[in-house]
Amino acid sequence: MSKRKLIVAGNWKMNKTPAEASAFIKELKPLIKGSRSEIVCAVPFVDIQTSITAARGSRIKIAAQNMHFEEKGAYTGEVSGQMLKDMGVKYVIIGHSERREYFAETNKTVNKKVLAAFKYGLKPIICVGESLAQRDAGLTAEHVRYQVKAALLGVTAEQVKKAVIAYEPIWAIGTGRTATAEQAEEVCRIIRLTLKELYSKRVACMVRIQYGGSVKADNAHELFSMEDIDGGLVGGASLKTAEFAAISAG
Ligand code: 13P
Repeated sequence: MSKRKLIVAGNWKMNKTPAEASAFIKELKPLIKGSRSEIVCAVPFVDIQTSITAARGSRIKIAAQNMHFEEKGAYTGEVSGQMLKDMGVKYVIIGHSERREYFAETNKTVNKKVLAAFKYGLKPIICVGESLAQRDAGLTAEHVRYQVKAALLGVTAEQVKKAVIAYEPIWAIGTGRTATAEQAEEVCRIIRLTLKELYSKRVACMVRIQYGGSVKADNAHELFSMEDIDGGLVGGASLKTAEFAAISAG
């Protein structure tokens, strides 16, 4: 069967003011006209409004980088899926390793957020990946399989088809040390086999799996051409329009 439609998402992390976000997206628009990938920019909450306005008339979709699992209530500083949906957000990154490490997110909160994202009509980009110590100890497959299963508890087959899973080895994030295409493919394949076990072969074939971790214009093509890799979640290189446009070309 032919491969799934590529999805290339920029994770801006804590970068760009609303004015900078708007200028960036306006500059990006003409550069991605020829790309056949789905293109997403995951921007800080405060940039969502200007980014959506700037992206009008283009195929660029705006994502959030996190959300709370409750609809509303006494959760100071938090933002709900309902609020994001209302603004026109399409995707939301859930369980990024930086959130797991610095903001105490667990497999349990990740699962709650994934369920809440579906409830409010958002597509989750669910991040999984091992640390260097886990890789060195031969625990990569076990760890990633567990994270995938835990994130998808209670998620139906119809829902999971709309999810994106991002395999981001922690040792490759922001380090310039990209996983080789073979290393990335090996784990993305394990993720797809886990989806097959949880759902069915047909469903597993429909879910898009991204690779993330030091993706650049000069390594994206090789990574994205692997059988089980359907695009990338890009950090640092997504902050420059020409570089991100080149990555989006597939
Ligand atoms: P870098 O591309 O900067 O390594 O970041 C990857 C990442 O964390 C994307 O979510």
